Order: sequence, then structure tokens, then C-alpha cells
Amino acid sequence: MKCAIITGASAGIGLHTAERFLKEGYSVTNLSRRHCPVNAVNHVNCDLSVPGFLDTINAQLTPLLQQADEITLIHNASRLVNDSALETPSQSLREVLEVNLIAPNTLNYFAIPYMKPGSSILYVGSTLAEKAVPNSYSYVVSKHGTIGMMRATCQDLVGRKIHTACICPGFTDTEMLRSHVPADALDSVKAMSAYDRLIDPDEIAETLFWAAQNPVINGSVLHANLGQVEN
Ligand SMILES: NC(=O)c1ccc[n+]([C@@H]2O[C@H](COP(=O)([O-])OP(=O)(O)OC[C@H]3O[C@@H](n4cnc5c(N)ncnc54)[C@H](OP(=O)(O)O)[C@@H]3O)[C@@H](O)[C@H]2O)c1
Repeated sequence: MKCAIITGASAGIGLHTAERFLKEGYSVTNLSRRHCPVNAVNHVNCDLSVPGFLDTINAQLTPLLQQADEITLIHNASRLVNDSALETPSQSLREVLEVNLIAPNTLNYFAIPYMKPGSSILYVGSTLAEKAVPNSYSYVVSKHGTIGMMRATCQDLVGRKIHTACICPGFTDTEMLRSHVPADALDSVKAMSAYDRLIDPDEIAETLFWAAQNPVINGSVLHANLGQVEN
């Protein structure tokens, strides 16, 4: 049995990714606070911002991992806040890092011992994993860390035939985007893509599925942004 464990498959990119892996016969498990609206997806209720979250889901996850011939672990859930390097108390940075970096580490630490050859660990980054814009301080810091974690994981998995990659989406039409971009600013966001449109979450799901099937990309950062226009 092939198994996909996806954080944040209750909405957006994670939800579309869950559907993509289901279509290929994977057993798919979602880790998030809300249920995944697709019934065939196993729901493991958890809040990744709570440091001890693994203790509450350990019993549900263990049998799934034990049964799997191949595991794809997708670190997709993340927290986006608008803050500035000039006025972010460390506690708020810590809260963002908890979801965006510490939770992926917790899941890696737990799942890697069960991963057989052919398995993969995929990270969802962002264009802001490689550049900064004003007022997205904690998100930019954490997403740069996502690439570092992916590269270091790749190096420490040498010889195990488990591959890693970081897929960095551009502006994708999800709740996260809609809640941060006012409706009257959508056209200017679209214009930042060489295709003058938002990315459909299915396009990122397809890229993640492809990345899981192709170990040759081990350690890579994949830009999935339709070509962002640089000003
Ligand atoms: N949309 C874009 O334009 C864009 C661009 C670049 C990168 N990305 C990246 O793509 C990934 C998915 O984003 P999206 O746009 O699909 O976001 P979304 O529609 O807002 O979905 C976010 C998902 O993360 C989960 N999540 C958030 N906080 C959580 C927590 N504390 N515990 C458990 N789950 C949590 C949510 O589940 P619950 O609320 O049910 O817990 C939800 O399923 C993120 O890593 C994001 O940084 C998105």
C-alpha cells in the first residue's frame, strides 16, 4: 500500500493534493484542525501549533505508517501573518516557527523510521522561501528555513533511497491568498504572473504528485509560479 500523509488537506493546495493522490490509489491521511471534505481521506485531528501534538495522534498514525510499503509525507500546512522585522516579539515568531518548521521536524522524526525505499518527504515552500517582501517577516524567515530543512534532510537521508524536494508555489487561488489579498487588488496580483492569472491549486497538486514519483529531483527546489514578473 502507498500512503500519503498531508498536513493541511482540509483546504487549498493540501485538499487538491489529497484528491490527486487518492486518484492514483494512495491511502491519504490529512492532519489538520478541520476535516478534509473528501470522505475517502483519513482525518487525523491535530493543531500543529501545539508543541505536544504528536502525543495525541501517535496511536492513529502508527498503524498507517506500519502498513505502508511507500510513504509520501507532505509538509503543506503553514501559518502566514503580516509582521515586520522591526516589531515582532520573539514569542510571535516562535508561534509561526512552531507550525512552519518545528511541526515538520516532529513529523519527520516520527515517520522516517517507517519509510521504505521509494518514499519521499515533500515540503511546500513559497516564492518567499528565496526572497523577501516587506511585512511578511515570520513567514519569510520560516519559508527560508523550509528550504534549509529540505536540503539538510536530503543530505542526512543519503543511502536510504528516500527523496526530498521543496515545491515553491506562486500566487495560488486558495483561502490563504483570498484572506490576504483584498478583492480589488486581485488583478494586480495576477499581473505579477507572466500568465496574468492565479495558479489553480490543482497545478501545485500535480507538481507535488510528480515530485513524489521522480527521485531524480532529490534535494531540489522546484519553482511553481508561472514565471513571476520581477519589477
Ligand atoms: N496560496 C498561495 O498563494 C501560496 C503561495 C505560496 C506558498 N503557499 C503555501 O502553500 C501551502 C498551502 O497554502 P494554501 O494557500 O493552500 O492555504 P490554505 O488554503 O489557507 O490552507 C492551509 C491549510 O493549512 C492548515 N493549517 C494551518 N494552520 C494549521 C495548524 N495550526 N494545524 C493544522 N493545520 C493547519 C489548514 O487546516 P485547518 O485550518 O483545518 O487546521 C489548511 O488545511 C502553505 O505552506 C503556503 O505557505 C501558498
